[in-house]
Amino acid sequence: MNDVAIPLSLAAFREGFPALQSGAYLSICDKAILHDRVRDAVDDFLTGMAGGNATRVGHETHVTAARKAFAAMIGASADEIAFGRNVSDGINAVVCAMDWKAGDNAVVCLALEHPNNIYPWLRLKKRGVTLRDVPPVNGRIDQAAMADAMDASTRMVSCASVSFAPGYRADLARLGAAARRHDALFLVDGVQSAGILCHDVEAENVDAFATSTSKGLLGIYGAGFLYVSSRWVDRLEPAYLSRPAVAAENDDASAIGAYDYRLQPGARRFEVGSYNLAGAYAVDAAMALLAGVGADTVERQALMVAEGLRAALHAAGATPVSQPADAHETSHIVTAGPLDAGGHGFSSTAWVEPLSARLAEAGVIHTVRRGQLRLATHGYNTEADVALVRDALAGWQRAA
Ligand SMILES: Cc1ncc(COP(=O)(O)O)c(C=O)c1O
Repeated sequence: MNDVAIPLSLAAFREGFPALQSGAYLSICDKAILHDRVRDAVDDFLTGMAGGNATRVGHETHVTAARKAFAAMIGASADEIAFGRNVSDGINAVVCAMDWKAGDNAVVCLALEHPNNIYPWLRLKKRGVTLRDVPPVNGRIDQAAMADAMDASTRMVSCASVSFAPGYRADLARLGAAARRHDALFLVDGVQSAGILCHDVEAENVDAFATSTSKGLLGIYGAGFLYVSSRWVDRLEPAYLSRPAVAAENDDASAIGAYDYRLQPGARRFEVGSYNLAGAYAVDAAMALLAGVGADTVERQALMVAEGLRAALHAAGATPVSQPADAHETSHIVTAGPLDAGGHGFSSTAWVEPLSARLAEAGVIHTVRRGQLRLATHGYNTEADVALVRDALAGWQRAA
């Protein structure tokens, strides 16, 4: 990727997604759609592999560029970024790198987390660590109760930047400030917001941030980023160790350095073995597009369309609709129906599945999660998507 972003209008950005040629894609919270330039980048990688003359070091320039672009996106420095696999990989890398002692505790709100940010914490119990699981309030993190649950034995605090359902944005700055008062590491599952909502890890008091590239970052599955703040990195011992994590004179993967090795100075100590290079090509190209559009523009557009969807669902009586209490909570995910009346892909609320079927028939791609109808936007969505949803809802009669 070029260091200087090439400006791109929202309309030109949108044009590159074949999936947007018909219907409305409102499912970025589930998975990314591919932009032509991202697909071309993966093709370049495959062509290089097929030709047999591309070098690993050449391929890895995309890993370097991707780390740098992601760092710029979240307000970090490139040496605070590791290129890995997914959210689970990043979260487990950080959790397993802490020197936990019996009697330590971790503060989380499990009811709002994705399973991949639940199991790593449950397992800590085996090491004598207490899990302080703070219940949510109306689908939101209880900030005050989370802060009250922290004390001198708290080593980590974790939450999703935006819950996958019901989709409220967490006030990271406030939670992070509370964690910092106790010298606890604040670890964020950022996959639902990365690439869509703006982040500044310094201002948000975030110590570690894990994401995959397969949602809002518009890359492919099996690639991800882990940010680990330079404040913390030397206090963490990676559970896995292989060549990329070791500081060495050159880039040669088979070169053996001194046996009294040193870890890479930054977050690269969390990288393990060979990279997902197709994933690096893809996300490098995708982040060039996102930088070209501009993070503020992407966020503004995604939130504007989400607001239109919220209003349309509300007007049609598909209530309760997720309703942010203030700007802190506002996200690009809109949910309708009671939380947890159902699960992944199904709902026990009488009207949710019929409404979901109606939307699908109208070409509105969306999901049902935790029993709720779920729609989510990115910078490529427009008012036309809201109009399609509104049309599909016209004449809809809510079942009792
Ligand atoms: C909040 C959240 N975390 C994590 C994941 C997925 O984790 P991984 O990237 O490890 O598959 C999802 C997927 O939907 C998610 O919504």
